[in-house]
Formats: sequence, structure tokens, C-alpha cells
Amino acid sequence: MRIRQHVNPTHLHFASFRGERPPLDGRLVEVEIGCAEAQFLFERAAADPSRLYVGLEIRRDLVELVNARARTLGAPVHATFCQAQLHTTEIFAPGSVERIYVNFPDPWFKARHRNRRMVDATLADAIATVLRPGGELFVQSDVWDIALDAMASFDGDAEERFVNREGEWTFWRGGNPYGVRSWREQHAEETGLPIWRILYRRASSGSDPSPART
Ligand SMILES: C[S@@+](CC[C@H](N)C(=O)[O-])C[C@H]1O[C@@H](n2cnc3c(N)ncnc32)[C@H](O)[C@@H]1O
Repeated sequence: MRIRQHVNPTHLHFASFRGERPPLDGRLVEVEIGCAEAQFLFERAAADPSRLYVGLEIRRDLVELVNARARTLGAPVHATFCQAQLHTTEIFAPGSVERIYVNFPDPWFKARHRNRRMVDATLADAIATVLRPGGELFVQSDVWDIALDAMASFDGDAEERFVNREGEWTFWRGGNPYGVRSWREQHAEETGLPIWRILYRRASSGSDPSPART
């Protein structure tokens, strides 16, 4: 199957949600935003099969591949076709997600394509809404500008909904704490690229969402 390298997330085609909803049934939920083939989530599922692992992905072919693989393996992994900035809050109830990963979001290097980048204030708003108070947000990138963009979106959040676990405006020095790697992370490590990581806790004061149902 030929998979498109990039799609333009600002295209009208992605404006309304047309994905298949994940089977939210009371299990703790972990989400990877921009999961691609979801190596990270399949490895998490193998390590702890009691949870549900949801990948949000804008390339429909990849969504179908992930869901076919999950069925074959019987793994608690589900990919949902969506434009994450627009649809995350349509997919998950407020405060219902335990942990969110943003692994190596697309860089869109050119200045005129900056509005196609995934991590921005809109995504930060969506994450703040669906993450439970005390829940974790983990961000990593091998592109310095993207890592700084992410820090600006989360450390710079005017409502202070994200607590940087390493200290304000500081990259996480503890490496990847989850013991599993995304495909892009594996590639970066194997080719010696630097990786900038940031770990946040969803603040439990201020404009908090209601607590998780589980
Ligand atoms: C560089 S890949 C990284 C994939 C994987 N997280 C990893 O670390 O190997 C970024 C992924 O995010 C997806 N993506 C980009 N913008 C998105 C958006 N607005 N909503 C959902 N997915 C998006 C892309 O299609 C791509 O699969």
C-alpha cells in the first residue's frame, strides 16, 4: 500500500470529524497524537494490556493499517482518523484521558507552512481539556524549532494548565520514561540525532476539566 508522506491539515477535507470512534469502555486511556504506524502504542499495549491505546492520525491509510494489525494481534490499540487540533475534544470527554504522547510531530520546515504544524495553542487547549488533572503529557522531537514551539504552547499556556516536571521552560533530562520507542524515536537514536523531550503534568487547579470517569 502506498502511504502519502504528508497531508495538509488545513485542507477543508479535514474540517469535520469522519473517523471511527475508539471503544471507550472504562479502561484507562493513553493517546498518541500523530501515531503513524503506532509502534509506540503497540509496544505500550504489549507492556500493559489492561489499558486502551488510542492513536490519532490524519493519514487514513495508516489508520486502517494500525487497526488491521490490532485486530490480528488482538492488541488493545485503536487508531482514529482525525485532524487532532480540531477533533480531539469531539473524541474524548473532558478529563477522561490518563496520558498523552506527542512523539515527533511533523516539522513543516518552511515558514509559509508554519500553520500546518500540529503543536500549537489550539492543540494545547484540546489536550488541557481531555487530560485528567494529574495526567501526563509527554512531548519529544528531534527538531529544535518544534521542541521550542511545543514548549511555547505548553509552558507558555496563559491559563497555566501544564506543570513542567523538570521546572518551567526546561527540557526533561530523564530520557524516555516509558521503556518503549516510537519508530521515529528509534530512527533518531540509531542515527545519533539529538532528541528534546518535555514532560508535563496536567495542573489540578485553575480552569480544570471535570475528573476522569474511571
Ligand atoms: C513525523 S510522524 C511521527 C509518527 C510517530 N509519532 C513516531 O514518532 O514515529 C508525525 C505524524 O503525525 C501525523 N499528523 C500530522 N499532523 C496531524 C494532525 N493535525 N492530526 C493528526 N495527525 C497528524 C502525520 O500524518 C504523521 O503520521
